[in-house]
Amino acid sequence: MYIDIAKEKFNNLYKTYKNRDILVLGIESSCDETAIAIVKNGREILSNVVATQIEIHARFGGVVPEVASRNHLLCIDSVLNEALEKAGVTLEDIDAVAVTYGAGLIGALMVGVSYAKALAYSMGVPLIAVNHIKGHISANYLTHKDLKPPFVSLIVSGGHTALVKVNNYYKNTLLGSTIDDAVGECYDKVAKCLDLGYPGGVVIDKKAKEGNNNIKFINHELMPNTFDFSFSGVKTTIINYIHKLKQNGEELPVADICTSFQEQVTDELVSKSIKACKKYKEKKLVVGGGVSANSALREKLTKAGEENGIEVYFPELKLSGDNGAMIASEGYYQIISGMGLAGMDLSAEPNINLKVVRRKEKF
Ligand code: KG4
Ligand code: ZN
Repeated sequence: MYIDIAKEKFNNLYKTYKNRDILVLGIESSCDETAIAIVKNGREILSNVVATQIEIHARFGGVVPEVASRNHLLCIDSVLNEALEKAGVTLEDIDAVAVTYGAGLIGALMVGVSYAKALAYSMGVPLIAVNHIKGHISANYLTHKDLKPPFVSLIVSGGHTALVKVNNYYKNTLLGSTIDDAVGECYDKVAKCLDLGYPGGVVIDKKAKEGNNNIKFINHELMPNTFDFSFSGVKTTIINYIHKLKQNGEELPVADICTSFQEQVTDELVSKSIKACKKYKEKKLVVGGGVSANSALREKLTKAGEENGIEVYFPELKLSGDNGAMIASEGYYQIISGMGLAGMDLSAEPNINLKVVRRKEKF
């Protein structure tokens, strides 16, 4: 039986990891990137191939789920071959297959999960179920070789905005999360309204450098006395502001809107992150997710960290967006914690949140 072989190998990896190298193949397909990477001992990237579908979805102004699933299917084989080739290894060298099983688009996740199951089964190696959000945190282990928990983590992506206390490699405590839109989602929606295209983060970040923070979109502290976030009010205020100007035939101060939006939203992220570090007496803040590439967020958090004696970590830019290396790294840390082994019944779970820090099974 596959699961018996997998359990035996998993236990063996768990018991011997200190004395040997472990190669994990990581698969990520939760949204519009088909990504496969091979990572050694959770920290060293041997290959990291990302096939992005951005151009395909840009013409629709956002990700079309069914189109995403079909394109994952079309390219996943060649992404795997390229990842193996670039790493200079064969499937026989791989010790475990880690895959994003949630959160994300159901059809897109299913492609990666089914592919990972087939691979793990045919290779007779353990299958490790990885929460995408935890992967974003682990991207930092690849960039900062000495970084270890505990720390506070700020996750900012297209689907999530959250503050998490990372207690150790497998145990997290959710401190707060958005009660409505994710911050990346707001970037994308504001950009769409300004006709700046998809995805909106990079282009708003760029435009924001040319404008002034002279339009007040946030008039009060959002969600005070909690580590939760709320961005839908800001988003709606901005969208209404844009529509009103358009209806009156007035010229849109695009750069000023971008600067004001970015400054005000990043102030909110910075202020809550620093408060969380102080409250939980953590001297390390680790940022993850697509929006961690944002230049204003990087600048402000670094400065606030210096002022408050907190060391702030960001993933290198190429690891801030979705990739397979972060999934492989997270898979490694689950293995050495004795967690995360999945069977052939693993299914895609589009709505897992940060409260789900791992699969319950412990073998
Ligand atoms: O983590 P990610 O690649 O996918 C999800 O898990 O959602 O994040 C994608 C999000 C998009 O909303 C994109 O607009 C945003 O990250 N993003 C940025 C920047 N680069 C990407 N947002 C702000 N500034 C950026 N430089
Ligand atoms: Zn992501």
